[in-house]
Amino acid sequence: MKVKYKEDEWLIIEDGFDPEMIRASESIFSLGNGTMGQRANFEEHYSGDSLQGSYIAGVYYPDKTRVGWWKNGYPEYFAKVLNAPNWIGIDISVDGQAVDLTTAKIKSFRRVLNMKQGYLDRSFTISVSGKKQLEINSRRFLSMSEPDLGIIKYSVKSSDFTGKIEFTAYIDADVRNEDTNYGRKFWKEVSREVNKESGFQISRTMKTDFHVATGMVLELTKNDKKVPLTPDIIDREKYIANVFTADIKPKDEVILYKYVSVLSSLNHPKKKLSDHIKLSLREAITKGYATLLNDHILKWDEIWANSDVVIEGDLSAQQAIRFSIFQLNQTYTGNDERLNIGPKGFTGEKYGGSTYWDTEAFALPFFLKTADQKVGRNLLLYRYKHLEKSIANAEKLGFKNGAALYPMVTMNGEECHNEWEITFEEIHRNGAIAYAVFNYIRHTGDENYMADYGLEVLIGISRFWSQRASFSDNLKKYVILGVTGPNEYENNVNNNWYTNLLAVWTLSYTRENIELLEKKNPEKLKAVFRKINFLEDEEIPRWSDLITNMHMPFHEKLNVFLQHDGFLDKHIIPAEHIPAHERPINQHWSWDRILRSCYIKQADVLQGLYIFEEQFDSETIKRNFDFYEPLTVHESSLSACIHSIIASRLGNIKKAYELYLHTSRLDLDDYNNEVADGLHITSMAGTWLAIVEGFGGMRIINDKIHFNPLIPEKWVSYSFKVRFRGILIEVDVTKNDIVVCNLSEKPLSLVISGKDHLIEGSSKYSVGLQTE
Ligand code: BGC
Repeated sequence: MKVKYKEDEWLIIEDGFDPEMIRASESIFSLGNGTMGQRANFEEHYSGDSLQGSYIAGVYYPDKTRVGWWKNGYPEYFAKVLNAPNWIGIDISVDGQAVDLTTAKIKSFRRVLNMKQGYLDRSFTISVSGKKQLEINSRRFLSMSEPDLGIIKYSVKSSDFTGKIEFTAYIDADVRNEDTNYGRKFWKEVSREVNKESGFQISRTMKTDFHVATGMVLELTKNDKKVPLTPDIIDREKYIANVFTADIKPKDEVILYKYVSVLSSLNHPKKKLSDHIKLSLREAITKGYATLLNDHILKWDEIWANSDVVIEGDLSAQQAIRFSIFQLNQTYTGNDERLNIGPKGFTGEKYGGSTYWDTEAFALPFFLKTADQKVGRNLLLYRYKHLEKSIANAEKLGFKNGAALYPMVTMNGEECHNEWEITFEEIHRNGAIAYAVFNYIRHTGDENYMADYGLEVLIGISRFWSQRASFSDNLKKYVILGVTGPNEYENNVNNNWYTNLLAVWTLSYTRENIELLEKKNPEKLKAVFRKINFLEDEEIPRWSDLITNMHMPFHEKLNVFLQHDGFLDKHIIPAEHIPAHERPINQHWSWDRILRSCYIKQADVLQGLYIFEEQFDSETIKRNFDFYEPLTVHESSLSACIHSIIASRLGNIKKAYELYLHTSRLDLDDYNNEVADGLHITSMAGTWLAIVEGFGGMRIINDKIHFNPLIPEKWVSYSFKVRFRGILIEVDVTKNDIVVCNLSEKPLSLVISGKDHLIEGSSKYSVGLQTE
């Protein structure tokens, strides 16, 4: 393990400069505000190894698919979030010598991410040549209150140096993605304009033709007094800059403020971009640094007031959970139904910034419990708006009559993943999208959503399951053949238990909601049926048959559900027998060996037991957990959190905590040596769920919120906030009791450790616990 950041409640601290850690720290110290994101690249020139990353939500490039062997049905492209024009650049030179941390003599170096207030500080002292010692401090934030703005305060102080400092503040649109299929650059210039103190550049993406305007306006102070700017101007293709020089002597401080606005054609007419960017920059500088920072901090205060988790007695866990909450909120703010959550958020290029089932299975439950209802609703509307494309996607694979297969990976509703075993076979994602409708409604109580949008999605998905399943004369049951479950360490299996379970659940939930709407609003139901040409008399009987007669693989002797037919033909040896130097197996074993092994990448049967827990008794859950946990290598970041929640459910706090540790500091401690590629944003939601649903035992059952808390031995107490149907509550758990505080006006009836309670508005309720 290379990376070790200092532990602190609210800060992530890196002390000392290690060129080996640059990429990892660029990920860890990333900033975002839902509209854009920025890796923690340095402002000044850095010639060492680095992954430049400025990202704009929703702006992508469809990179033509490249595969060894084309298969019919493959998507034409893989959508990639673009490395957008570099807006952070401020080059420095000291008496004509460029500052570059690869060559400068670094006396001290420190980076601090302030998660409470949402900014990144960096300070370092260098001597440039001989005795020219300078102290540089920068602060950067991506405004949460004005999501088009990114602001940098860059200060240079002289310790012992008299001479000239030159600043080159620039915007550079000549950027590329590291991950490209054909080595192409994805941006073309449209126009640029640069003046004294400000400028902007407009680029457009090839193929998708998104236009993006990136503008800057600058301010310089010396010893707190504003300095009039008389810069030299650089104006060349894809690059604009202001270059100005300041005389500096010992103890002087020169500060450059760079206000940047990034606007895209997602939100502005292309022809108006230049007018709008000028206006946005004028408004930014009029507000000024202090006001913008203050407004930004107030937004973070609001977020923390609704979602903070406080852990007493474990600083490392405290830091990690706040890091998760911080990163999730940086990635998605829920203001725009066209946007979604990439597994790596805005922290790297991996996974293309696209949407996966991670959103519905992991991120949505977090946002449903911590954010306004509209946030969850927008995540659902994103899929609703993609229904037609999902139907087209299914048609491409040979399905018909409105069957919808949502893509495994998407930016705009079209599939862009191209490995047959995942694209065509990992169809459980469809079930997660159906389940999200149920999950949203039970958290929010927004029942109208079903008739207005949900039912169409459910019917599309149910039609898919109905056509994807076939009848086996041999088993006299319906079967779903040739699939990949969540465990991607085995493909093309028959009857993945989890997938079949989801299919049956979707069909019966859809049928149930059709019946409900028939009673509540038959006219509305008819309108939905007409719109999608639903043939109730033909389709429902087939669904009912499937619901009753689906094959669910089960092993009588072991009394466990089978991950899929034939799973037990494998040589079953617990993962603890894999030599440590061969872990993770995906970095040491051939793919062939992995596929033949019994090792499970991530929760599969257990994912089903987690989601549909209410259908199973504790003994069943325990038997399956005891069977599958030892075989699971947790090589997906989405795994340990689910296992941890189940271990808590079984009252095994020791195991739950051990698994929680695996998930909670995955990035901060870089367990898998891959944080350089970006952070595991969606698994951070799993970490949060491991506390709230795991240790806190939160469930929603029959319209009521339940808690069944446990507390890890090391913790003195923990508390979290959750929302349920417009009510915000704070839950505090100690070794002795659970205190639930109703922070809203409305009374809340809830269940704690199996007993019903009523908590009036704005009051608390405490229940003693036996945690041993
Ligand atoms: C996991 C998938 C997940 C993807 C993105 C893969 O490693 O197996 O379940 O959707 O990562 O997080």
